[in-house]
Amino acid sequence: MSVEEPRHDADAAAGRAFAPGAWLGLLGGGQLGRMFCMAAQSLGFRVLVLDPALDSPAGSVADRQLTADYLDPPALAALRTLCVAATTEFENVPAAALEFLARELRVAPGAASVAIAQDRIREKSFLADHGFAVAPFAVLRDAADIDSVDEALLPGIVKSARFGYDGKGQVRVKMRHEVGAAFDAMQGAAVLERMIDLATELSVIVARDDAGHVVSWPVAENRHRGGILDVSILPARIDAALADEARAIATGIASALEYRGVLSVELFVARGRGLVVNEIAPRPHNSGHYTIDACVTSQFEQQARILAALPMGDTSQHTPAVMLNLLGDIWFEGGAQSAREPDWSTVLAHPRAKLHLYGKREPRRGRKMGHVTCLGETLDDALAMAAAIKRTLGIADEDTSTT
Ligand SMILES: Nc1ncnc2c1ncn2[C@@H]1O[C@H](COP(=O)(O)OP(=O)(O)O)[C@@H](O)[C@H]1O
Ligand SMILES: [Mg+2]
Repeated sequence: MSVEEPRHDADAAAGRAFAPGAWLGLLGGGQLGRMFCMAAQSLGFRVLVLDPALDSPAGSVADRQLTADYLDPPALAALRTLCVAATTEFENVPAAALEFLARELRVAPGAASVAIAQDRIREKSFLADHGFAVAPFAVLRDAADIDSVDEALLPGIVKSARFGYDGKGQVRVKMRHEVGAAFDAMQGAAVLERMIDLATELSVIVARDDAGHVVSWPVAENRHRGGILDVSILPARIDAALADEARAIATGIASALEYRGVLSVELFVARGRGLVVNEIAPRPHNSGHYTIDACVTSQFEQQARILAALPMGDTSQHTPAVMLNLLGDIWFEGGAQSAREPDWSTVLAHPRAKLHLYGKREPRRGRKMGHVTCLGETLDDALAMAAAIKRTLGIADEDTSTT
């Protein structure tokens, strides 16, 4: 143990877990944070949420909420005084905030991992340097980079290096001259990535503890609509060898990062090429929400366990599941001009449907408002239930990929 090690982390390194009642700090107040709060509170911890917005989904269930910018000195000082450890639910939280907290607190994941995951250039370079397959790409920082773009990267996607999510910050390009216009619209560095012919999309969530042990949940098969996750099917309908390979890749990435906490890895199954890593997120993932209802330990409980230096829980899946995202669009079903609450009794009429709503006051098209986990005796049962719920809620059922 080095002398620089933060006080609380030294306790954790010595195998001393934090006692219930201790305060855990959370940067970010979205739905991932809300589900983290609930899991941490179930283990007896108290949670302090820091988010710039009042009434955030996590803030409204947290024991305490600080409404301030992530780099606000008084807010960070308050968090550092009250809490024994801190985590994030949001990859765009400034790494500097985590670095500041890490001087005194146990922080998981660490600022270095977050800094890599929040910047596509660093992320792709890290993955490629460590031998993980990624889509062929070029870094775009200035006009010279645009001029020297290799035709082999077209058709492709220009993706902003920072702050993209749910397909935002991306422009598809076919011709060389479109690359420059797309880059100009990005306001900052970007990557040009070659379009991959996707057979399917997968994700793997892993958790790594202080001792370097890594556990993984089953592989999710993900379907997107309009650039946003629509459904996750668990376990993925792929052969066992491919699933093992996907889990091994995700585990390898967590180890290469010397990661601590819950890490999400999105993968493409490229037709004729096998697995390609798309992106990583230093937090639980939308495709892992089913773990609350269908696994022994949820991704959120695991995040709390690792943060509190407790042993990790079993990641086995006990029930086949299909997770269906509920976007704000269904509040405007049938072309309604003003938002109308969907009739949730039609969902709950399925006794094995588990409804989770995030408490967001304002439904907007494309906004993630909640999800339903459909639990089946078999995966086919869960798929049939998800299709029935989609029909009643007015969610289109075609498996279109991103636009
Ligand atoms: N190189 C690519 N080839 C084909 N489809 C892609 C590629 N990159 C992204 N996509 C599609 O766009 C979606 C969103 O892209 P992603 O890089 O994961 O950004 P986000 O941060 O918005 O999740 C992916 O899930 C996939 O469907
Ligand atoms: Mg993605």
